[in-house]
Amino acid sequence: MILVTGGAGYIGSHACVALLSAGEDVVVFDNFSNSNPIALERIQAICGKPLTVVEGDVRDQSALEKALSQHGCTAVMHFAGLKSVQDSVAEPLEYYDQNVVGSHRLLRAMRATGVRKIVFSSSATVYGKPQFLPCTEQHPLQAVNPYGRTKLMIEEMLRDQHVSDNSWAIAILRYFNPVGAHESGLIGEDPKGVPNNLVPFVAQVAIGRRERLNVWGSDYDTPDGTGVRDYIHVMDLAAGHLSALRLLDTPQCFAVNLGTGEGSSVLDVIRAFEAASGRTIPYAVNPRRPGDVDTCYAATDYAAKLLGWRATRSLQTMCTDHWRWQRRNPNGYA
Ligand code: NAD
Ligand code: WQD
Repeated sequence: MILVTGGAGYIGSHACVALLSAGEDVVVFDNFSNSNPIALERIQAICGKPLTVVEGDVRDQSALEKALSQHGCTAVMHFAGLKSVQDSVAEPLEYYDQNVVGSHRLLRAMRATGVRKIVFSSSATVYGKPQFLPCTEQHPLQAVNPYGRTKLMIEEMLRDQHVSDNSWAIAILRYFNPVGAHESGLIGEDPKGVPNNLVPFVAQVAIGRRERLNVWGSDYDTPDGTGVRDYIHVMDLAAGHLSALRLLDTPQCFAVNLGTGEGSSVLDVIRAFEAASGRTIPYAVNPRRPGDVDTCYAATDYAAKLLGWRATRSLQTMCTDHWRWQRRNPNGYA
């Protein structure tokens, strides 16, 4: 039995599909602060298999201990937390509380119940502004905003815990830019309010919920002047989690990139989404967004070697699947 914190969220819901499809049993632990319980019904419809749901907050250690022991959990996938860079600058204390304190309580609950295997959602944001490309796992760690610092602190906490007790098995997964949706179109990303991230915004323009995309900067040192990122299909990401989980039968602690190794510009994404949707994406070029870097993409060899995993889906497939979800659910789960 795997406890999935944040399992109703965007990435967690896709990981649940991958886990259930691989024959694992799942307990989702979520407070639904940024998700909808309907996602859990959809996961079960896709997999034709039930999952267990516990509504709770990861800062509630006793609720976690109860969930871990009552359901006989052997491992945890930890997705629960807040993820907006912008909000983290405005509300740092909330981010340290939910992300750092939440992870700390989770680790204590795991220790108390004898569960010592965890897969953690980290982010390429821990590399800060890339000093070289592709970004290898050896790239210096240097978060540049409160959200990134919470991820870095949690990584350090996990590494320290492994040093203190090397019977723990810890996988730290550094995601690049997850996009796309399950191919059924039943689950996908459902941002509250105005999306910060590129692909959800583009999808809402395509469906007519927003008039035009603001392209943040066209004067970067990139082939077409717009920012270049490593977009990765959320189902490839989910498969990476399963591969990481499989390694946790052996105590160890590792941090590995989950990306494709390929960079795409904002204009590449617009073109791919236009092809996927058959709709024009109007856009306006605006000044750069503070804190953005020109280019970021992953080194993928370590993931291939360690996990035996590589992302396989193209940018076109990411946009096609994202569009299917958006078209079938114009207002998300609402
Ligand atoms: P999401 O907001 O869709 O999912 C997070 C889930 O956790 C939601 O269901 C939310 O209700 C739940 N949650 C939040 N705070 C909680 C708390 N205190 N207790 C219990 N549940 C709580 O986000 P996501 O995109 O699926 O991201 C999942 C994880 O991956 C996060 O830790 C995020 O930082 C990390 N990550 C995301 C991205 C990205 O671009 N989406 C990139 C890198 C890393
Ligand atoms: C991608 C590109 C923008 C929106 C963020 C977090 C990171 C991680 C993933 C969690 C950039 C451009 C965007 C828009 C645009 N999250 N853009 N118009 O900034 O690489 O990463 O999400 O861990 O920590 O920082 O992703 O999707 O916001 O931006 O032109 O409306 O699209 O400038 O070049 P980013 P993004």
